Amino acid sequence: MRSGNRAGSVSLLAMGALLCWAAQAEAREEMVRRTMALDADWAFHLGNIQERVQDGSLDASGWEKVSLPHNWNRMGGTAQRREDYQNVKGQGWYRRSFPTPEKLGDRHVWIQFDAASVIADVWVNGVHLGRHAGAFAGFRFDATKALKPAGDNLLVVRVDNSSPREKGSPTADVIPMNGDWPMYGGLYRPASLIVTGPLRIAMEDFGGPGIYASTETVEGGKARVRVLARLENGLPGSAKGSVQTRILDREGRVVAGATTPFGIAAGSGSTARAEVEQQLAVADPHLWEGVRDPYLYHVNVRLLDRAGRQLDEVEQPLGIRTMRIDPETGFWLNGRQVPLHGVSRHQDRPGKGWAITSADIAEDTAIIREIGANTVRLAHYQHADEAYRQMDQAGMVVWAEIPLVDRSAPWYSETTTEAFAANAEQQLRELIRQEYNHPSIAVWSIANEVNLEAAKGRGTSNARPLLERLQAVVHAEDPLRPATLADCCGTIAEENRPGLDSVAGITDVIGYNRYHGWYGNKVDFLGRDLDRVHARFPRQPISISEYGAGGALTQHTDDPQGGPIAAFGRPHPEEFQSWLLEESWKQIAARPYVWASWVWNLFDFSNELRLEGDLTDTNDKGLVTFDRKTRKDAFYLYKANWSPEPTLYLAERRHTARPYPVVDVKAYANTGTVSLTLNGRPLGEARCEVGICRWPGVTLAPGENRLEASGTRDGKRVSDAMVWTFEGKPGLYRIRAGTLEQQRAPDGVLWGSDVFSTGGQGHFRDRPSMARGGEPGPVQPVLGTQSQAPYGSWREGDFSYTIPVPNGRYKVRLHFFEPDDKLGAGARQFEVLAEGRKAALIDVRREAKASWTALTRNIPVTVADGKLDLAFKPIVGSAIVSGIEVLPE
Ligand code: GCU
Repeated sequence: MRSGNRAGSVSLLAMGALLCWAAQAEAREEMVRRTMALDADWAFHLGNIQERVQDGSLDASGWEKVSLPHNWNRMGGTAQRREDYQNVKGQGWYRRSFPTPEKLGDRHVWIQFDAASVIADVWVNGVHLGRHAGAFAGFRFDATKALKPAGDNLLVVRVDNSSPREKGSPTADVIPMNGDWPMYGGLYRPASLIVTGPLRIAMEDFGGPGIYASTETVEGGKARVRVLARLENGLPGSAKGSVQTRILDREGRVVAGATTPFGIAAGSGSTARAEVEQQLAVADPHLWEGVRDPYLYHVNVRLLDRAGRQLDEVEQPLGIRTMRIDPETGFWLNGRQVPLHGVSRHQDRPGKGWAITSADIAEDTAIIREIGANTVRLAHYQHADEAYRQMDQAGMVVWAEIPLVDRSAPWYSETTTEAFAANAEQQLRELIRQEYNHPSIAVWSIANEVNLEAAKGRGTSNARPLLERLQAVVHAEDPLRPATLADCCGTIAEENRPGLDSVAGITDVIGYNRYHGWYGNKVDFLGRDLDRVHARFPRQPISISEYGAGGALTQHTDDPQGGPIAAFGRPHPEEFQSWLLEESWKQIAARPYVWASWVWNLFDFSNELRLEGDLTDTNDKGLVTFDRKTRKDAFYLYKANWSPEPTLYLAERRHTARPYPVVDVKAYANTGTVSLTLNGRPLGEARCEVGICRWPGVTLAPGENRLEASGTRDGKRVSDAMVWTFEGKPGLYRIRAGTLEQQRAPDGVLWGSDVFSTGGQGHFRDRPSMARGGEPGPVQPVLGTQSQAPYGSWREGDFSYTIPVPNGRYKVRLHFFEPDDKLGAGARQFEVLAEGRKAALIDVRREAKASWTALTRNIPVTVADGKLDLAFKPIVGSAIVSGIEVLPE
């Protein structure tokens, strides 16, 4: 308002208008919905309670004070089981009070939980409002009738995460039945109280927002947007009015609008419902273009009464875009082919479990952007709405899913029951309605590895009828988005298991979870496997919904192919993870028909059944650690391939202790070429392929070796440096035959992993717990030796080693033991050839006199060609060796 003489008279008028506006605003305020957070001031009790707690007769003064988000389980992320470990499953009770809103009149009060795991029963003042079954979707109950006319009301929630396996468990028919993650218990997302009018935008619509917007077409510079508003009437009389819909651009300008009259029946007894569908045209639309330009509009829907007064209002995100998936050419966004490459995400954090904040989600989103992904699989269940919102804003194309995992039937039944199917269907409708408006979501996934249990011969559940039913639900709920599922076993196992139910061909598109090179098979089977499946189902668009490998920060290998990994155990050298993902990515990138791929997983995540790599209760397949602090080497493989940011990263930077003098150096970069120096001395420029730049056969000097790399992209110079320490001396080797993990012996000496070998098969002695949840098995010592260091593994078969050494005289000390108790003397005999000459004839069992007993042989060798050749040639049975020491004389 301007100052000045005229201001007085003007301001009187203005004041009147203002008062009138204020009164209107207050009246409107009373009509439109209001939301109040219910996150603070909860009292919590873990465990069953016999007395009546619902109506407040129980003294809860001793309960723990908590606020939401909250959950009571803790696990994972540490080497030993964490000190605050808590895996109790069962009931947890929450209570707090809240006042009856003033001047309530005929309005309704709703209690909304954004999630409660797994089952929630809600009471207000002792009145049971309802039960919700499913850990991941939001839900709300109408509390109006249970409220006191004024003053405080008691809100009590019982949450139950009992295992569905327990006989008679309340979760027995609630998906998931199983899965590689814990079902954390609690009210782990926000809660709120919402006041609406009796005539309102739907509140009882599977927890959805009540308005649903989608891009129908984008043609000729115009987008057609369909908006469906679902309405509810709780008034005793019928009502009429209009739905006013506006599409607002980022600046809040209205770019399209429509007002449509409606009539709705009387809500006497129960709530009456009506739907209003509108078509809006947006001229010259600014499209949501994924990571390139994730432009967002908003759709705002107002419910007006006949006099034009506003009764309710809901606003949702809108991205104008079209998506299409083709079996040959993959994914198309707005008519542009966009190969999708990305990662999966679970929602848990160390210490917090699922009780994470928007800031935690934002930290994850930032890392997803940093790696250069353009798609994310939000696995294996509905994530927080905030997660999808952030994906919209980041331009990620999202795979959203329900937790129908491992089984298609409850544990108590061999086949799907109606209660089980109904719960899966409910969770699917909740997911779709609650997250419908997120433009980032491309596909709805109805299942993950649903025939895994059947493939393992446990249970005979036939998944097809349920999957067909869920596919139909997706089409009914959302005709514009395809249904998908993630398959593990159908096509892999079918050769071996002709009876196994294949799940291919049910959904519009599909994802395959493929762990070739990790859980069996060889990594190079990945591409052939895809080609095979593609040829068999040529009309079905194929993606890789999972591939991955564990990576432990403290376990290192000098050659990722030097021996076997223990998928369900230890070791999981970080360099093996990188190697497997390099090999996998090359095969995926070469197949444009693969419409998307997702690395499993961006982050390590908890599962108390795992004891793997160097962690307890953790799946270590993350590219980033559970605490989000450390990016593993493989993170940069992808960043170099996916991100436009100039990227250069020297790999194996945690593998600092080097047992061998001659090594390969590797960088991940998107600079095309990279120059490397060692202790200031140039080692030349490497050309990078698929983001991988290599300098083979680099000779390290004893002690510290500083490696510095640099490259240029878009005129910007990037560099990286690291230090490796070569602990030996030229020509000195201590090799653990048959294993890919290096190890420091108790005497401080570093034994390198198996490098330089050809042929044969590696084995480790200390069989890790192959059974999930097991402790590491007791180590069976090899007798007759001071040091166990050379006996942790062995190579067996017909094999040889070629070790680079300076010319000269060496003593080669070979370590053996017979691991097979059943083999008697004479049952295994072989020759050792050094530099092509017979050097020893060995019968370990005969010479050591017993199995599991050490035998050493010293062989003098003179090398004149720069490499030491050792061959192990079987005569009877297969040859074997455990440790090889090359000692310069
Ligand atoms: C599966 C599954 C994941 C699991 C992963 C793994 O196939 O879908 O939930 O974590 O494999 O074994 O790491």
